[in-house]
Amino acid sequence: MRRPRTLLVGGGGREHALGLALQRSEAPLFVAAPQVNPGLKAIARDYLVSAVEDGPKISRWAREREVELAVLGPEAAIAAGVADELRAAKIPTVGPSAAAGRIESSKAFARELMQRHHIPGLPEFRTVSSPAEVDAAVAAFSGQFVVKAAGLAGGKGVWVQGVDFQTPQEGAEIARKLFPPTGKERSVVLEERLEGEEFSLLAFVDGTSVLPMPIAQDYKRALEGNQGPNTGGMGSYSERDHLLPFLTKEDREAATEILRGVVAALRKENLEFRGVLYGGFMLTAQGPEVLEFNARFGDPETLNILTLFDGTDFADLLYQVAASRIDPSHVSFRLRATVCKYLVPVGYPDSPKKGSLLRIDENAIRDLGVTVYYGSVSPGPEPGTALTGTSRSLALVGESSARKDAEARVEQALKHVQGEYYVRHDVGSVADVKARVEHMHKLRGTAPFDPVKNPTRSGPAPPQVFLA
Ligand code: AMP
Ligand code: GLY
Repeated sequence: MRRPRTLLVGGGGREHALGLALQRSEAPLFVAAPQVNPGLKAIARDYLVSAVEDGPKISRWAREREVELAVLGPEAAIAAGVADELRAAKIPTVGPSAAAGRIESSKAFARELMQRHHIPGLPEFRTVSSPAEVDAAVAAFSGQFVVKAAGLAGGKGVWVQGVDFQTPQEGAEIARKLFPPTGKERSVVLEERLEGEEFSLLAFVDGTSVLPMPIAQDYKRALEGNQGPNTGGMGSYSERDHLLPFLTKEDREAATEILRGVVAALRKENLEFRGVLYGGFMLTAQGPEVLEFNARFGDPETLNILTLFDGTDFADLLYQVAASRIDPSHVSFRLRATVCKYLVPVGYPDSPKKGSLLRIDENAIRDLGVTVYYGSVSPGPEPGTALTGTSRSLALVGESSARKDAEARVEQALKHVQGEYYVRHDVGSVADVKARVEHMHKLRGTAPFDPVKNPTRSGPAPPQVFLA
C-alpha cells in the first residue's frame, strides 16, 4: 500500500470527505484552506490557512513538508494555476492545469471544444462578446433559452427562461448586464433551454484513461420543490445500482462516451487532463446533453461517491491519477444507496447569516449510520459546536441498501443538530424522486421502471477504464 504524504487544497464538505478517505488509506494529510475546517483540522498533520488560489505559497509550504501528492478541491485553485505551480515543484497533482481546466472555467471554451471535435450532447449555443451582439444571438433561438456568464460563478451565473426570467427581452437585458464580464472570461453564452432530469457523472482521468464513478443527482435550487436561486448544491442522492431511477445503462454509456470524447479532444489540443472530470448532464428525451463540465470533484456528489468507495487504497488510486496509469482492478464501489443533505445558513445563497451556533451530537448521528462532513463552519466555543460561515455549513450522509432508508436515517440525524439553519428535506425523498421519474417517463414516452420494456435499466457497471 502506498501512503503518500498528501496535500489537500480546499476546506469544504467535499474536502472533508476526501480527507477522511485519504485517512482511511493512512496517507499523512496536509491541508491548505481559507478557513479552519474542524473536520479537517482533526485529521491533518499540518494546516495552512491560505487563499486556495495562492499557488506559490501553497507549493512552497507543501515542498517544505515533503508532500508527495496533491489533490485540488475547488475550481478557483485550478483556474488560478495551482496545479501548474505544484507540478513545476515536481509534486504529482490530482487536478488539471489552468489551460485544461478551462473546460470548467470557460463555458465558451467548453462549448467550442465540443463543437470543434464533434462531441455529442452539445445543445444549440451562441457566444456573445459584446452587448451589441445580444439581440441577434437571442433571435437565433426559436424556443426558450438560458443565459450564462462564461466564467466561474459558483453555480450562480445561470438564468433560465421560464424560471429566472420570462420574455426573450428580459433574457437579453440580463445578458447585456453581464458586460463587462468579471474575471478572465470576455464572453457570455446563450444556449437552448434543455428539458429533462439532471445527473452528474464523474470520472477519474489520468490523461488517457477514464474511470467513471457511480452516478448521483444534485439538487441545485436553494428551496424545497426546486424553487429559489441556483446554489453550489443543496444535497444529492445515489442508488444501489449506481444508476438513477430514470436513467438506463445506455444513458450512462452515452454520458461516458462524452467524457471520453472530451479527454481525447483535450489531448488532441495538447492539453493533458489529470484529475477528475465531472459531466453535468441533462437527460432529455433524446438522451444525455451537456449542461456543463467541471474539472474537479463535485460537491456534494463526492460525499455520496466516497461513502461508497470500497477498499483502503484511495490514496493509491489518486496517486495513479496524478502520476501514472489508473489500475481499475483494486477499485470498487459498494452496492448501496446514499442520501446527502447540506445544512446551510439561513438566507443562503444570497444573504447567508454568518456566526449562527450549531450544536452537533456526532455520536448520536454516527449511531444512526450517518456521517457528518464539515463545510463552511468555524469551531464553536465548546466541543460539539460550530459557527456558520457564508457557504454550506455541514452535510449529513446516510447509506443503506435502499434510498428510502438512507433518507430516513438522515432525517433522524437532523434531530441531533440544533441551531439556526436551513435544509431541503425533499432531497432524495420518495415523493421528489417519484416526480422526477414521472417527468422523465412523460418526456420519453417510456416506462423506465418497467423491466419488461426496459430490461437493461439496472445493473451496476464494474469499475472499468475507457481509453481516450
Ligand atoms: P451550470 O452551472 O451550467 O451547470 O448551470 C447551473 C444549472 O442551471 C444547471 O444545473 C441547470 O439546472 C440549469 N441549466 C444550465 N444550463 C441549462 C440549459 N441549457 N437548459 C436548462 N437548464 C440549464
Ligand atoms: N454539485 C455541483 C458542483 O460541484 O459544482
